[in-house]
Amino acid sequence: MKLSQLFLLSSILVSVPSIGHAEEASWKDTSLSAEARAKALVKAMTQDEKLQLVASQYAVDNGSKHLPIPKGALGSAAYVAGIPRLGIPAQQITDAGLGVTNPNHIRPNDAATSLPSGQILSGTFDRNLAYEAGKMTGAEAFHRGFNVLLGGGMVLTRDPRIGRNFEYLGEDPILAGNIGAEQIKGVQSQHVVSTAKHLAFNNIETNRKKIDMKVGEKEGRESDLLAFEIAIKKGNPGSIMCAYNKVNGDYSCENSYLLQLPKKEWGYQGYIMTDWGAGHSTVKAANAGLDQESAADQFDNKIYFGKDLKEAIAKGEVPQSRLDDMAYRVLYGLIQVGAYDHPAVKSTQSEDVAAHEAISQKVAENGIVLLQNKQNILPLAATVKNIAIIGGKADKGVLSGGGSSQVTARGGNITDPTSMQTWPGPASYFPSSPMKAIQALAPKAKIQFAEGNNIDEAVKLASQSDVVIIFATKWSAESFDNADMSLPGNQNLLIEAVAKAGKPVIVVLETGNPVEMPWLNNVDAVVEAWYPGTSGGTAIANILFGKVNPSGRLTITWPKSLAQVPYPKITNAGQRWNEDDPVKEDKPDLSGIKTFSLDVDKANVGYRWYQDKKITPLYPFGYGLSYSTFKYNKITLNNNLSGKNPTMTAEVTVENTGNKDGADAVQVYGTIPDGTTSRLLGFDKVALKAGETKTVSIPLALQAIANYEPKAHHWELPAGTYTIAVKPDALSNEGVKTTVHINKMNLAD
Ligand code: BGC
Repeated sequence: MKLSQLFLLSSILVSVPSIGHAEEASWKDTSLSAEARAKALVKAMTQDEKLQLVASQYAVDNGSKHLPIPKGALGSAAYVAGIPRLGIPAQQITDAGLGVTNPNHIRPNDAATSLPSGQILSGTFDRNLAYEAGKMTGAEAFHRGFNVLLGGGMVLTRDPRIGRNFEYLGEDPILAGNIGAEQIKGVQSQHVVSTAKHLAFNNIETNRKKIDMKVGEKEGRESDLLAFEIAIKKGNPGSIMCAYNKVNGDYSCENSYLLQLPKKEWGYQGYIMTDWGAGHSTVKAANAGLDQESAADQFDNKIYFGKDLKEAIAKGEVPQSRLDDMAYRVLYGLIQVGAYDHPAVKSTQSEDVAAHEAISQKVAENGIVLLQNKQNILPLAATVKNIAIIGGKADKGVLSGGGSSQVTARGGNITDPTSMQTWPGPASYFPSSPMKAIQALAPKAKIQFAEGNNIDEAVKLASQSDVVIIFATKWSAESFDNADMSLPGNQNLLIEAVAKAGKPVIVVLETGNPVEMPWLNNVDAVVEAWYPGTSGGTAIANILFGKVNPSGRLTITWPKSLAQVPYPKITNAGQRWNEDDPVKEDKPDLSGIKTFSLDVDKANVGYRWYQDKKITPLYPFGYGLSYSTFKYNKITLNNNLSGKNPTMTAEVTVENTGNKDGADAVQVYGTIPDGTTSRLLGFDKVALKAGETKTVSIPLALQAIANYEPKAHHWELPAGTYTIAVKPDALSNEGVKTTVHINKMNLAD
């Protein structure tokens, strides 16, 4: 059966949470479950109060409609007034997954900590760090009086041009789902609702508000939807944000298949809100399962979940039970994270900035990837005498990604006057200068800087130095994709020319995606620092000088060129809108790209595509160097493959065979019986002193090697012999392996 048919079949109305004979004000009773309390509240609410909860208002005056910011709003992506008589707090809703944003500086002088980009967070392969990262952003949100955070994101990375890859967690569903779940838990530990976004298949930004993503049910469940399934089941986010794009003909925010999947199949009790401008209907959306319309006053063509919803209920087009369910879900989300019992109030206390910045720095230090290190040129010695630093505004700061996730750093962002000046721009640098941090680590070194615009000047500087560090940047942002994989401007020519000066050359990349590196063989070391966050300069310097041993891994396969990717041509990619109002994105003619079919890579996203097609990329998923070396000595399995919940755990013995303390991202892969692809089943980040050996126990996710069977509606592990291997990256032949025979079995949902 096709997914589109299933959409029709699954367009089931949500049952009303049955409200028992709760005692008066039982919703205040913290000994009761969030379910019981939310039900009691709904029972006590008037129709207008329920309607009030299901539509937010924009809370930034961006000038385009000159709507006043609602009274009581702090100034942020959206606001819903509270209901004081029932103790329901206002919803103060802010972006985003990397940190608390301040669009248009709506809250004067309010700066925050930005985490490094999602590729770094996932590249840590460290669940604890993901939790700490979420906890830090949650704490900053709560401190400012916000109780809903619009992040994190777990859309899978399917192409190296996509504008928002930096907000997401890479190409593997097991990694993205698990890291996303920990981030969500961390945010919510601070009484702030976390929002898993964007459901679903928001895999490209080009024409994102109109494009129809085509995907089969099996392929969808085994890829992007598996990442969401894991993040939602394990992280239990208070809210989910449905995407702009259509999926198989229906807009995500009125797509009953997508909206019912978490609720019907994953036990999800929270609410689903639209993206800003992703609402398209009243009756269809409400009956499909949408729970809250976001900032419709500014972004949708009309307010669908206001007067129109009230009338639709009165006419019986939307059952009353659906509105009760919407209100229930919003309240459940708030109650279960403690936002009801611990209302967020803008704090007058100072926050622990140093601790927050330390977490951002730690994430960067654990997720930045060392790609190349010929003759162990890195780490640099603190005694190096003459250092040339070239390009990338490294004297000033580090690049960040653009759009709604853009954080304003303490000390102010440094904007690039040559970039687009209107939303999602301008390209902004956080004031954490790698050059200053390098000088602090090599206090006696003579450090000279060249901007890099003048190639001759840069070559001259390089030839006078002992070592050259070139910073190369490429800006990515929400709402458009890059046209290609090249470094913009003269940067490739600059690197080629400087490499000819005969000095050791280290290239540090600050990019939102893999880039082509035509000069790769001519330089000594390459560090991919992605967008390293508000303490990124320090993290980069610490890695270059060995204060930190790099342990980050790639969470996106790095192709040699676009000729290797599943979708070499993306029509209209690179076309952008020079407008400050995202609603106007619809205006340019992007008619060349109306649909996008994911039927090339299907569920074989990223490294699985390369394996299946026997293509050797430049660097595979999971790849990254260290200043130490690691060896896997043994893998054994503990299996319990009977009963409803079969489990498999790998015991892996890993040894640090080098002479430096470090950490290894231990990755366990399972090859399916036909031998075509191996899939990440489990991972852990293990710190090992030089010479140390540890045995770690890694639970394996059987869904990664199971088939989703749409007709039977379940996950099935086909009979056969599976190879389970621990290896340094997804495509490596090194490491150790074992096999396990599995009889055909179904996995319980
Ligand atoms: C983005 C969302 C964001 C929202 C609110 C939209 O443009 O797609 O991710 O949360 O704006 O700012």
